[in-house]
Amino acid sequence: MVQVDVLVIGAGAAGLMCAAQAGYRGRSVTVIDMGKKPGRKILISGGGRCNFTNENASPENYLCTNPHFVKSCLSRYTQHDFIELVDRHGLAYHHKTLGQLFCDNSAQDIVDILLTECEWAGVTIQLRQEVLSVEKTESGFTVTTSEASYSCESLVVASGGLTMPKLGATPIGYKIAEQFDLEVLPTMAALVPFTLHQHDKARFEALSGISVPSIVTAEDGTQFKENILFTHRGLSGPAILQISSFWRAGQAVLINLLPELDLAGEIHTQRQSNGQKSLKNVLGSVLPKRFIEILVAGGDIPDKAINQLSHTEIEQLADYIHNWEIKPNGTEGYRTAEVTLGGVNSAELSSKTFEANQVKGLYFIGEVTEVTGWLGGYNFQYAWSSGWACGQAC
Ligand code: FDA
Repeated sequence: MVQVDVLVIGAGAAGLMCAAQAGYRGRSVTVIDMGKKPGRKILISGGGRCNFTNENASPENYLCTNPHFVKSCLSRYTQHDFIELVDRHGLAYHHKTLGQLFCDNSAQDIVDILLTECEWAGVTIQLRQEVLSVEKTESGFTVTTSEASYSCESLVVASGGLTMPKLGATPIGYKIAEQFDLEVLPTMAALVPFTLHQHDKARFEALSGISVPSIVTAEDGTQFKENILFTHRGLSGPAILQISSFWRAGQAVLINLLPELDLAGEIHTQRQSNGQKSLKNVLGSVLPKRFIEILVAGGDIPDKAINQLSHTEIEQLADYIHNWEIKPNGTEGYRTAEVTLGGVNSAELSSKTFEANQVKGLYFIGEVTEVTGWLGGYNFQYAWSSGWACGQAC
């Protein structure tokens, strides 16, 4: 039986940050991960360049049943603190868009920073070990892995969500929570592409690879203004990934395909100078031509010259394009999702230390908790913030 002060399950973003902090406090810390490398999700994130934080991160960028929980967490260790850390390590990075910071070279640079911090803090990292079970003892916990048994005073669960099972996602964190009677809120794939019903899929799959700047609105009124991307399975792109966190099965989303143009006004103007022009050509000059052809072929928009359109038809057409309604069939699920919505209820945890209110010495940080960020570096920031806060206490 290996004895340590702190055992961390998961050598991901949250686990490594927490381990280094606890190590700096003089705690003996071991991190266990079933993968053959630490930080595997960091390595594939942001197209291999890791969008490691967002300059504008604030509680509004997160979904959580208790916004104060996120506020408390982010305020203790902010994006500026993480930027200060990477600056100290000399990381080369750049601002891409909307406050998103990416590595210039490779996501490996972020993993290297975390590993250096862990090394300086005297942390032991054990890879290729799957955590199988946890038991409470009088002085802490016994953790059984595929290779060994550990006894620890503090147990930190940083085992992530269910996304990307190929990269070692397991439900162990939720199981441990349930074992100790902590509520786990229903989980769902989020930041994930939509699949379409067969009819729409067949119509639009030829557009695969085409993106359109749009505003996408969910039924709860949440909106994102970014690109949508047609894929051979359905719809993706940043605006779709964002809205997927707010979409529920059976609901529709509204897509404003021309957010910068008053389409009805534009047609009225063009009618005066160029009335013979076909509607198809007018629309084809502001939207992908192939898309318009599909809509005309399907009878969604009339195949007429613009001077043949009645006022009502113009209004209907503008409404159609500004509020294009799509009812997804579903999502691509955990296989391609970036994050898992739901997880350990924040009401069960201290927002200061991430310790379970009812179980002394048991902590949950990162994606295994119910906090889910938007796309754009927010999820890593939450991993750093929760990992740091827990590392001061565990
Ligand atoms: P994480 O999942 O990183 O780590 C958990 C670890 O626990 C894993 O290493 C796993 O192997 C281990 N584990 C699980 N069960 C175990 C068991 N039973 N025994 C032992 N080990 C076990 N976010 C962002 O902010 N910017 C971005 O650019 C991206 N990009 C991105 C791309 C893709 C493709 C994905 C899938 C996700 C992103 N994300 C992102 C989201 C981000 O990766 C995610 O929010 C964090 O990695 C969560 O960090 P955690 O440390 O909580 O879990």
